[in-house]
Amino acid sequence: MAALTLAKDKIRILLLEGLHANAEHFFRSQGYTNIVSIDHAFDGEELREAISVAHVIGIRSRTKLTAEVLAAAPKLIAIGCFCIGTNQVDTNAAKRLGIPVFNAPFSNTRSVAELVVAEAVMLLRGISEKNILAHQGVWKKSAAGAREVRGKTLGIVGHGHIGSQVSILAQGMGMQVIYYDTRDTLPLGNARACGSLHELLAQSDVVTLHVPAASSTSNLIAEEEIAAMKPGSYLINAARGNVVAIEALTAALDSGHIAGAAVDVFPTEPASNKDEFESSLRRFNSVILTPHIGGSTVEAQENIATEVAEKLVRYSDNGSTAGAVNFVDISLPAHDGKNRFLHIHHNQPGVMEGIMSVFSTRSMNVSAQYLQTDSDVGYLICDIEGDIDSAILTELRAIEGTIRARRLA
Ligand code: NAI
Repeated sequence: MAALTLAKDKIRILLLEGLHANAEHFFRSQGYTNIVSIDHAFDGEELREAISVAHVIGIRSRTKLTAEVLAAAPKLIAIGCFCIGTNQVDTNAAKRLGIPVFNAPFSNTRSVAELVVAEAVMLLRGISEKNILAHQGVWKKSAAGAREVRGKTLGIVGHGHIGSQVSILAQGMGMQVIYYDTRDTLPLGNARACGSLHELLAQSDVVTLHVPAASSTSNLIAEEEIAAMKPGSYLINAARGNVVAIEALTAALDSGHIAGAAVDVFPTEPASNKDEFESSLRRFNSVILTPHIGGSTVEAQENIATEVAEKLVRYSDNGSTAGAVNFVDISLPAHDGKNRFLHIHHNQPGVMEGIMSVFSTRSMNVSAQYLQTDSDVGYLICDIEGDIDSAILTELRAIEGTIRARRLA
């Protein structure tokens, strides 16, 4: 088990994959100086060696933290995924080892929303085709078919973080916004909720998709849904590739039922920038194709760096797991003037009794106590008043079922 009562400058932070400088700046501003920043991903023996001495690791999507790699990380207290997804980490294995995993789910929300509204403008003006032709030396100066977005109806499918931002921006451009979501969400401004997806599809000049990746959203927009869209309307997909049945969209573009589309995400995407992008949509000049960059902006990278570093520092300083993807969620107040003990354990009988007896045999006052459990793991935080003797942590760690225990002075 790790010795985790270290001073901040002894806590080793390993940042891989060229994270934005904001991450290291934030750690340093909070007193963490033992930082190694590497501009690429590690794997194999290099990764196992580096992680074996790290207390905190920050990665993007290329570093694979499998159960085997995590087993070689006895000191690790927290993982930061400086991105949205966490598939590159075995989050269950991390939980069983008492290691919370943090990410930045909303740092690029605005970036996606801006692109979508800009694409609505581009589609209604036929810019994709005019741009391609101009590059080929063709001067297609014409107002035919080019329209303003003002007064047109934008249908937003999925009114979550991105969908609601799109609603605000589109209304600022004078669009009528309607939306459909499977849960009740608050309409913003003059936006109006639709009772069904088909009701939305039948009324929208532009449909934009902002639902999560899930089995229930796979092929959400297929032949029948596309047929329900207004003739000559447009489709934008910056959600997930499998939300739209590409063959159905291709057929509708061929027939002219759909006038154009903007697609950022695809059922199959190239594994790297060196691989060719294959899609049946490539042949349509009326389709704006982008390589899954809806959320890829400098601002989003800056926000991600700060957001994840903040979550890691909060956990290291204070024990708060708010925002962890694999852990019970505990937001804690400051523990000024008190000793805080963190105890992560298997959810089994007898652990709480063991912890309390460590304090009660010393007649110590527990001034605050927070406990959350899920089916596997329990996380207990105790704020203790009074003098602390050096044996307490050893005794807490010896309790059967303990995964980790540490003390925050
Ligand atoms: P969110 O979780 O905040 O919102 C999703 C909304 O969709 C929720 O309100 C949910 O109730 C709703 N929903 C779920 N199933 C639905 C259904 N069948 N019909 C209608 N509504 C449904 O998610 P957020 O952050 O807004 O992200 C939305 C999508 O954008 C995700 O698929 C995400 O992967 C994608 N995304 C794409 C990026 C890009 O680079 N293109 C970058 C960031 C996110």
